Amino acid sequence: MKGIILAGGAGTRLHPLTKVVSKQLLPVYDKPMIYYPLSVLMLAGIREILIISTPHDLPNFRQLFGDGSKLGLSFSYAEQPSPDGLAQAFMIGKDFIGNDNVCLVLGDNIFYGAGLKNLLDRSVKIVTEEGKAVVFGYYVDDPERYGVAEVDKKGNVISIEEKPKNPKSNFAVVGLYFYPNSVIGVAKSVVPSDRGELEITSVNEDYLKKSLLKLQTLSRGFAWLDTGTHEAMSEATEFVKAVEKRTSLKIACIEEISYLMKLISKEQLEHLIFEHGKSAYGDYLKKVLSQ
Ligand code: G1P
Repeated sequence: MKGIILAGGAGTRLHPLTKVVSKQLLPVYDKPMIYYPLSVLMLAGIREILIISTPHDLPNFRQLFGDGSKLGLSFSYAEQPSPDGLAQAFMIGKDFIGNDNVCLVLGDNIFYGAGLKNLLDRSVKIVTEEGKAVVFGYYVDDPERYGVAEVDKKGNVISIEEKPKNPKSNFAVVGLYFYPNSVIGVAKSVVPSDRGELEITSVNEDYLKKSLLKLQTLSRGFAWLDTGTHEAMSEATEFVKAVEKRTSLKIACIEEISYLMKLISKEQLEHLIFEHGKSAYGDYLKKVLSQ
């Protein structure tokens, strides 16, 4: 399975923070925001990753990750010249995806939970073995801000709507989507919504109509963090700080994940530690190495 991180958008809701720097490169406590969605792809066992961003921001992502080999990964990069919607990722990434299945994660979505790896493994299996698309629902108090899934008692999706004025449920569809290869064709057939975007929700509606959409709920024990406003950014930082302090473990430490998943050797981790210099982040990696 291939992975795409969509890190485009003008980020105007976070001005002036995002006037020069891409939203997905802003700090969430001790690391750039994009580390969090990247760690999700890594935990899902995905090694080939395409980062899509604006022509202005793409060079910064390249500078941060290079070709990915330092992390035992393979990175590709592609431009999204204008923010025309999330579904465009599959058209831009068509050649990169090739004949594979694909997971799309939004560069500003943060996930946390002890059972995350199992949930991701299960999702990859559903796509591979059942040919279904997998999306995730998370209970929120402000569903009108998101894609919203209406679900029956058995957990089947009945409808899915993008930012509805009158939401039919409190289940937001979060920014993590697993699709079979057919998503390239489905995305091509999507027409722009009233707000002029190629909506990921239209892609999901297509799979729903064909009875090929599976919704997994992120229930008690999972946290999905939004970073859409200054307030939400600050709350995400507070959350990560509190969990990391209390557990003495880092969330989304991509170097640690690479090492524990045996994507890099001890020597490669040592080199990364050297690159992190005298930072507390580097000290944490030293601890990982010594354990
Ligand atoms: C996008 C999607 C929406 C989803 C959300 C998750 O919204 O369109 O369906 O619930 O991401 O972060 P946007 O962030 O573009 O407003």
